[in-house]
Amino acid sequence: MKIVKATYLISSPSFDLCPKLNLPEYAFIGRSNVGKSSIINALCQQKNLAKTSGTPGKTQLINHFEIISNSVAKGKQDKWYIVDLPGYGFAKSSFHKRKDWAPLLEEYFAKRQALKAVVIFMDIRHPLKDSDRDMIELCNKSDTAFIPVLTKSDKLSNNQKHKAISAVNRQMQGVEAIAVSSKDIVGFDKLSRAILEFTGAPISTSGM
Ligand code: GTP
Ligand code: MG
Repeated sequence: MKIVKATYLISSPSFDLCPKLNLPEYAFIGRSNVGKSSIINALCQQKNLAKTSGTPGKTQLINHFEIISNSVAKGKQDKWYIVDLPGYGFAKSSFHKRKDWAPLLEEYFAKRQALKAVVIFMDIRHPLKDSDRDMIELCNKSDTAFIPVLTKSDKLSNNQKHKAISAVNRQMQGVEAIAVSSKDIVGFDKLSRAILEFTGAPISTSGM
């Protein structure tokens, strides 16, 4: 899968106000500052598509990005959406407390027909925090597919990296974690493949 075009579409203050879109959607979520927005930029090969910051809580709204990628079927293109969600675990965000974001997300997972999968980002140096486990549980509860992604893999040696991946996988019951680094651009082929293969290729859009 190769992304050929990525454009910012809209920011919404709540799930209720998100645009009604029928194309496949992939929600990116994780603790604040874990590197979600940087990954969107690296995946789409555009430096400033999603806003990033060293200060946690940069992403405060629900941001939709429209993606066009080359289809598995030659000569065709697919259109789908990435949703950059505010990180959890940041005090000034409405997502900061579990009791705040859990019901909102639960509703979004249940109602959003086009939601294909949730990509759960965790810092490779300290994965599976309580809030991440809550998120996984929420996905399981609502029968929503998820892809665990370990970020900032450049922060660990190769040996430490493999140990961290294995430790997470042991607790994942069959779902394989993918390690990525936006800094070194590592793991993005795997991530794009998982986005498509884990949930099936996005619906092909005619006339594109
Ligand atoms: P919020 O929007 O606040 O929830 O954060 P986010 O998860 O979108 O993180 P963001 O992409 O804004 O990155 C947070 C910080 O981590 C920034 O200072 C980035 O430069 C840094 N960062 C992101 N990805 C990587 C990476 O792969 N390696 C390293 N070393 N730093 C990274
Ligand atoms: Mg962000």
